[in-house]
Amino acid sequence: MGLGNGLQNKQVVILGGSSGIGLAVAELAATQGAKVVIVSSNAERIQKAVECIRSEAQGQAVDVSDERAVASFFATLGSFDHLVFTAGDSLHLHDLATTDLQQARRAFELRYWAALAAVKYGSPHIRKEGSIVLTTGIASQRPQKGWVMAASVCGTIEALTRALAVELAPIRVNAVSPGVVRTNLWQTMSASERERLYESVGNSLPVGRVGEAPEIAQAYLFLMQEGFATGQTVVVDGGTVLV
Ligand SMILES: NC(=O)c1ccc[n+]([C@@H]2O[C@H](COP(=O)([O-])OP(=O)(O)OC[C@H]3O[C@@H](n4cnc5c(N)ncnc54)[C@H](OP(=O)(O)O)[C@@H]3O)[C@@H](O)[C@H]2O)c1
Repeated sequence: MGLGNGLQNKQVVILGGSSGIGLAVAELAATQGAKVVIVSSNAERIQKAVECIRSEAQGQAVDVSDERAVASFFATLGSFDHLVFTAGDSLHLHDLATTDLQQARRAFELRYWAALAAVKYGSPHIRKEGSIVLTTGIASQRPQKGWVMAASVCGTIEALTRALAVELAPIRVNAVSPGVVRTNLWQTMSASERERLYESVGNSLPVGRVGEAPEIAQAYLFLMQEGFATGQTVVVDGGTVLV
């Protein structure tokens, strides 16, 4: 057995690949010879992302919160090697006292239920020695006040990762847990609020700054290529859990 499987000519499907961490994974995988397929809900953003990647890349618009659309996407796609799930929408951040519990359920729609649908319909098409990499976040281990829903979703994804690693073996299933990363996830804030967040979080961390998407992408590439980790969550958080 060689060390790692490499990504040359492997097909990597990235749900949530039109921006942020997913796009960085697509760009890095493509530089290593992978054929990438990026999916997001917006055709225009996908087109722009495919142009950014500048090597063999395809894109498709699918709303991954629509189970039937996910099933039909994978049925048409056929076999591939690695599934990466980075789709995410804006965070539900409220104190519990003011949380509308019906609305709060939506926090699970994309990050949990859509991820589960992607794995359910995608995993039967994963080739031998392929893998799945999901996305969680450091809020599970270091929640802030107001982060009850976001932290709950992250903890759920970590448990799901371990359960899927057993359920789907020998397909390896892992997750990446980023700290705060400069991406469009924070675009609902004004530019000045966002910069203040990056600065205050960055200053509180051992590394002295928030993360950049290409740094987080390296963890996904590691998990796809090495052949022995499964059921694990790799933390790339600038030291958030230490402070
Ligand atoms: N950035 C951070 O600080 C941070 C920290 C911890 C964890 N994370 C997690 O990392 C993941 C990626 O986030 P990011 O920071 O890279 O955010 P991002 O730049 O906003 O990327 C989110 C991606 O999800 C796609 N998406 C959203 N709704 C979708 C839908 N219904 N169907 C298909 N695709 C959809 C978006 O594309 P369209 O809008 O075109 O659909 C986009 O490609 C998320 O789960 C996030 O919670 C991020």
